[in-house]
Amino acid sequence: MELVCPRCGKRYKPTKGRYLCDCGSVLLVSYKNMKWAPRGEGVWRYKSCLPHKGKHFSLQEGGTPLVKGRDRDVYYKLEGDNPTGSFKDRGTAVVVSRAVSEGFKTVSTASTGNMGASIAAYAAYADIKARIFVPSSTPINKLSQIIAYGAELVKVKGTFHDAVARLWDDVSKGSYLAVTGANPYYIEGEKTIGYEIYEDIGVPDKIIVPMGTGGLITSIYKAFTELKRMRKIRKLPQMIGVQAGNCSPIVNAYSEGVDRAERMEKCNTIASAIMIKTPFNDLTALNAIRKSKGDALSVSDAEIRHAIRGLGEEGIFAEPASATALAAYEKIEKEKGDKVALIITGSGLKDPSAVI
Ligand SMILES: Cc1ncc(COP(=O)(O)O)c(C=O)c1O
Ligand SMILES: [Zn+2]
Repeated sequence: MELVCPRCGKRYKPTKGRYLCDCGSVLLVSYKNMKWAPRGEGVWRYKSCLPHKGKHFSLQEGGTPLVKGRDRDVYYKLEGDNPTGSFKDRGTAVVVSRAVSEGFKTVSTASTGNMGASIAAYAAYADIKARIFVPSSTPINKLSQIIAYGAELVKVKGTFHDAVARLWDDVSKGSYLAVTGANPYYIEGEKTIGYEIYEDIGVPDKIIVPMGTGGLITSIYKAFTELKRMRKIRKLPQMIGVQAGNCSPIVNAYSEGVDRAERMEKCNTIASAIMIKTPFNDLTALNAIRKSKGDALSVSDAEIRHAIRGLGEEGIFAEPASATALAAYEKIEKEKGDKVALIITGSGLKDPSAVI
């Protein structure tokens, strides 16, 4: 196993405390000989394709339902069924296991709330400390989770971007960097969503993924490229990334045909979980979308509200960031018989204020 820079190609041994490339980019895990040997349940079913082989900490993350739509010809991947109510638990299980094996006693993250709640829970379970930096706009439900799990909660005036600045400072003092996307092991845990979809229905024609940092779409695409390399599949799904209209730096970069997302000065949307001005994983998210001949689009807050109700009518309660997947589905071109999977990233109970 090695860490590879998607920007400059430089390779690194996975040594303690190595998160980023010297060029400043995030890194991805690369395996020499990958073996497909699923065994057991949840995320750790795919241990042969994960970077952590030793003792792991699990709250039974992963193994979420893939529910066929009643009104629409789609599959909903219900990530709200994870232990803390969002897909983050998959990446967190790997990251916290890795932090403990590297001897860290504290893990720190910056988060729009879900990652913070997840890290807090897994740190509690692994009996280490967690420090969580969140922007002031974080929904009270997510703050309550972080407090209940006993983590140190640091509310930062400003946005996710400001919380990340505080995080770097904290990590330089010796805690483990557990932030979405900028920790390469996190992407590895997340990719198990792709493996599960493959095991359930094969390769969908399209997968619609809400994007904040772009880590999730990066990870699901990575899963399918690995399956292709292991000769399990021949074609890749079209990756369709969605952001909120008022905060869509990756979608803007896609439309402009460039590789890097420019920081958006003003972001404002009810989809607070994906309100991210400066995405870490822009390059790899754009690569996933372009290489798979997918698409990137944005949806308005009104369309998100409508989609929350649309999911509700099918018995699914999603938080606003997750409902963007259905809002995007309503807007894209589809062909009859297309197999489409929507990643419903988090439970509606996480951020119910948009409904009231
Ligand atoms: C509910 C929800 N959906 C989607 C995302 C987007 O994931 P990513 O930041 O990896 O693009 C997040 C990220 O925080 C989230 O919390
Ligand atoms: Zn680099």
